[in-house]
Amino acid sequence: MAPRTTPEVRIEPWGESDLDLLRCLNAPEMTEHLGGPETEEKVLVRHRRYLEPGEEGSGAMFRVVVLPEREAVGNIGYWEREWRGETVYETGWGIVPEFGGRGLATAAGRLVVERARAEGRHRFLHAYPSVDHPASNAICRKLGFTLLGACDFEYPPGRPMRCNDWRLELRPER
Ligand SMILES: CC(C)(COP(=O)(O)OP(=O)(O)OC[C@H]1O[C@@H](n2cnc3c(N)ncnc32)[C@H](O)[C@@H]1OP(=O)(O)O)[C@@H](O)C(=O)NCCC(=O)NCCS
Repeated sequence: MAPRTTPEVRIEPWGESDLDLLRCLNAPEMTEHLGGPETEEKVLVRHRRYLEPGEEGSGAMFRVVVLPEREAVGNIGYWEREWRGETVYETGWGIVPEFGGRGLATAAGRLVVERARAEGRHRFLHAYPSVDHPASNAICRKLGFTLLGACDFEYPPGRPMRCNDWRLELRPER
């Protein structure tokens, strides 16, 4: 069998025209590990937040596009959160099912790691996939994250969720 080749991907800043993409990413099969679809109102709030990420260096959201068509197939980003007494970056991703299983989330993940590292602002990037989400845990492993262990979250608030805490060092300790 011929080796699988990953299509070339690019990440581009989230834009006004990405609302329909966000609606696709809100489908039941896409949100199975994230507490289920959000209401249209919440999707609109999320869209606005992605468009106005806040102060320089505090994070960014991107659409994932496949070349050469430049078709938008998912989203990925990084943002700040407080975690065990320090500010870290967190990342998360989504690829629509028609484009799944081609290595696109992993390829986009590599680009986001580069961006977060280039900020030079935080030492660690974390990801918190559900313990029962094999694909996202596999992506963390392939990106070079270290598994620190499981932890409990509420996501969305009020819904308990058991997650893995994965961590990638972006720069050495100062
Ligand atoms: C999770 C998701 C981003 C994966 O996107 P993708 O582009 O298909 O991922 P990739 O192709 O880059 O990699 C998936 C890896 O997981 C592995 N994987 C998939 N299903 C798996 C399973 N059941 N068991 C073990 N590994 C699995 C694949 O084999 C692949 O690894 P490989 O390249 O070494 O074979 C996509 O399915 C999605 O968006 N899901 C819904 C949203 C979501 O849950 N986001 C994550 C929140 S933390």
